[in-house]
Amino acid sequence: MLRFQEDRRRAREAEDPMAAVCVLATVDENSIPQARTLVLRDIAEGLAIYINASSPKWQQCQDMVAIQTWWPSVQVQYRMHVRCQELPAQHIADSWQLRPAAPKNLDWLYEQNAQGNAVKDRNDLLAQLERAPKPEPLVAPPGARGLIIMPQKIERLDLNQANGVHDRCSYSLHAGEWTQETLVP
Ligand SMILES: Cc1cc2nc3c(=O)[nH]c(=O)nc-3n(C[C@H](O)[C@H](O)[C@H](O)COP(=O)(O)O)c2cc1C
Repeated sequence: MLRFQEDRRRAREAEDPMAAVCVLATVDENSIPQARTLVLRDIAEGLAIYINASSPKWQQCQDMVAIQTWWPSVQVQYRMHVRCQELPAQHIADSWQLRPAAPKNLDWLYEQNAQGNAVKDRNDLLAQLERAPKPEPLVAPPGARGLIIMPQKIERLDLNQANGVHDRCSYSLHAGEWTQETLVP
């Protein structure tokens, strides 16, 4: 993870827009893979993602999931198998206040109409957003959630090699110990 953080720091320094995000891959209830881009946050405990419990991905994150990053600026890809642990409600209550207005309003709409549900059209969506009941003062709704990412297996692929042969390493966690292997790239 120190290596991940160092590579990510270099990507951020190079103003790589991909440094802010990851791809979260899950398997849905029909065994179909689902992947989507999420902001990958740094918090005191490590890496975290913020998602809404009304989305099917919330349930899908209760088991092992995959996280992937690719930073073109430093030519490094990471693939991880991770377990997730729910962030405490107090953390969500505090961090949710930092969200811009539109996502805050959407989080309250999800309490009535789950993320991913179909609406008639965009005008209908905007009208629903207007009408969705919100508390005063505005606080995080119950569905606003966050997960700490706990990697169990990490694979790093570094394309930036002078001889053109990519460097591929795998790190696995067993009984609290990490082991490292070099893989055929
Ligand atoms: C750059 C970028 C960042 C995103 N960040 C988040 C995020 O932090 N949390 C989130 O729930 N969705 C985020 N999304 C939207 C997701 O990719 C996705 O469309 C949404 O969560 C619905 O996914 P679902 O169908 O799995 O529920 C982001 C999308 C992009 C393109």
